[in-house]
Amino acid sequence: MKVCIIGQGYVGLTISAHAGQHFEVVGFDSNPNIVSQLNRGISHIEGVEESTLQKLIKAGRYRATTNSSEISDADLVVIAVPTPLTSKRKPDLSFIEAACQTVGENFKRQVLVINESTSFPGTLRNYIKPAIEKYSSPMIEHMYAISPERVDPGRGDFNQKNTPRVFAGLTPEASAKTREFYSKFCDELFEVSSPEVAEAAKLFENTFRQVNIALVNEFAQIAHALGISVYETLDAANTKPYGFMKFTPSAGVGGHCIPVDPTYLAAIAEENGAPATFIRRANEVNLEMSKYVVDRVQADNGGSLEGKTVLVVGVAYKPNVADVRETAAELVIEHLRQRGAVVSWHDDVVGIWNGENSAPLSGADIAVVVTKHDEVKARDILGSAPYVFDTTGKVPGATGL
Ligand SMILES: NC(=O)c1ccc[n+]([C@@H]2O[C@H](COP(=O)([O-])OP(=O)(O)OC[C@H]3O[C@@H](n4cnc5c(N)ncnc54)[C@H](O)[C@@H]3O)[C@@H](O)[C@H]2O)c1
Repeated sequence: MKVCIIGQGYVGLTISAHAGQHFEVVGFDSNPNIVSQLNRGISHIEGVEESTLQKLIKAGRYRATTNSSEISDADLVVIAVPTPLTSKRKPDLSFIEAACQTVGENFKRQVLVINESTSFPGTLRNYIKPAIEKYSSPMIEHMYAISPERVDPGRGDFNQKNTPRVFAGLTPEASAKTREFYSKFCDELFEVSSPEVAEAAKLFENTFRQVNIALVNEFAQIAHALGISVYETLDAANTKPYGFMKFTPSAGVGGHCIPVDPTYLAAIAEENGAPATFIRRANEVNLEMSKYVVDRVQADNGGSLEGKTVLVVGVAYKPNVADVRETAAELVIEHLRQRGAVVSWHDDVVGIWNGENSAPLSGADIAVVVTKHDEVKARDILGSAPYVFDTTGKVPGATGL
């Protein structure tokens, strides 16, 4: 069986690497630089080893392309393209629409189309199927399924194989073929009664994380106002063996999922007349954390940051990855600069970001730790400035949340 995977980013390349163990995979991506790198066996994603990619290429089981004519003989298509928000913070399905055009125009016989991109309930039935039909011959009726991706890039303990996969087809035949495909490289499959349930489950998972992170971020502020340690309180609460799950405070949330997916859920809820006030407020609390952090830093430094050199340590949105999408570091830096601080940042995992290079971990008046990669030692952070504010809880001896 030949599988075409549209989008070769975090999700699409990870799936390609796993599916390639069992099928011939063509990775279709609109970015020629990514495609050329991939065909040279260079991976741009944490968790996809170059040795794996090179083995697959050598065995003729993987190649990347920008050329849509090279995918037309596939039997199964996975869509793994971005689903961001527009500038007005509304769901942006333009990448999905473009992927549907590629499918509609190029597959001249029936294929199974599986969407792995995250979107609101109804996307498969009401957007993807009609969009593909708009571009394809009326003689062809494709099959459709959804299996929202749950990959956590850079994570070692849970991967494609041991993370249960939720899925649903639009028809029983589509469901059966979807099960057959994933069962080759995933241990546990969980079929639900409709694509809408699968789509909603994915959004609810990430909304659950978003509101719990917001809750602990609010609690960090309460704990500070009460003069108690947020971490000690959380550790104490976490001794309860049931009914509690520990989340830790931070400068905010980042990545493609947590800051974005709950807004997809809120948007479809409100479109259907259901309030999503809790979800909206959680998003605001997380966004406001960057200001709270900078307020604390300013208060501890004589009430003014004017002219002070501030080093932001860690600009990736989470430890041990180079991904800076929606990173909380961006807002922290913005608030610091608005108050007259001279800001640089240190993150050798990221290297270059927004046209700036990672600065040395030394010589600042103030350091603010947003993300702590394992390779960065706490003692080096403490040595980088006379005042260090830690938002991660991983730099003992620093001032922090
Ligand atoms: N990154 C994660 O951890 C993660 C986890 C679960 C789900 N998701 C979801 O998976 C989807 C993809 O996310 P990602 O992180 O892989 O994104 P990404 O930005 O890493 O990769 C997307 C790729 O798609 C390509 N692309 C865009 N439009 C295209 C088109 N029309 N045709 C071909 N290629 C196209 C881009 O060039 C890019 O390489 C999103 O819906 C996201 O919310 C992501």
